[in-house]
Amino acid sequence: MSAGSRAPLQLAILISGRGSNMAAIARACLAGLINARVNVVIADRPGVAGLSTARDLGIDAQTVSWQNAGDREAFERALSEAIDAHQPDLIVLAGFMRILSPQFAERYAGRMLNIHPSLLPKYRGLHTHRRALEASDAEHGASVHFVTAELDGGPVVLQSRVPVHPGDTESDLATRVQATEHIIYPRVIELLAQGRLAWDEGHVWLDGKPLDAPMVEDLSAHTRN
Ligand code: GAR
Repeated sequence: MSAGSRAPLQLAILISGRGSNMAAIARACLAGLINARVNVVIADRPGVAGLSTARDLGIDAQTVSWQNAGDREAFERALSEAIDAHQPDLIVLAGFMRILSPQFAERYAGRMLNIHPSLLPKYRGLHTHRRALEASDAEHGASVHFVTAELDGGPVVLQSRVPVHPGDTESDLATRVQATEHIIYPRVIELLAQGRLAWDEGHVWLDGKPLDAPMVEDLSAHTRN
């Protein structure tokens, strides 16, 4: 199939809050900048801002409640049912703040991406901006990676790099990094949609060659602060 005739990549986006990454991806799809379609947005709790943003964009938005599920197994069962009902090609974790089981990661291996607000492998887990400040890092950023059983440990495809300025607060850094997240996440999805990026049993390929190290872009010119 030529790039022009590829079917749009069908996406399910999982959120826990504001959903600014979800909105950036959805808007890129709607504007025809990426050959993809958001089939569904799923939140792990009701009433989060991202759900109404998704509905405003004309996207089916649902809640699979973590709290009502009882335990992780029941939650993940309900979550996969909601995902699979929409038959997505790709599951996009966009500020989805639940740790998924290895079984869940395995079920969607090679079909699930996450964005993490650090230059992985630095600062897996929480409070990444605070930890970058505490370490007096000169640079910080975000990483788009495939999800594997290891938390924030799957192969990284693309990273954005921004400077840390003297006097920055956590919130300054979060704003600076997030502006770049909205650029790199749609970009990676488009690489998949074009068939340029591929997963083969735990290995990532770009344009027919193994991607041995993440691509890194200095996006300081695209930041808002
Ligand atoms: C983003 O900055 C994302 O990198 C981070 O949550 C934020 C969600 O913002 N994700 C994680 O920390 C995952 N470990 P958003 O809801 O506005 O897209």
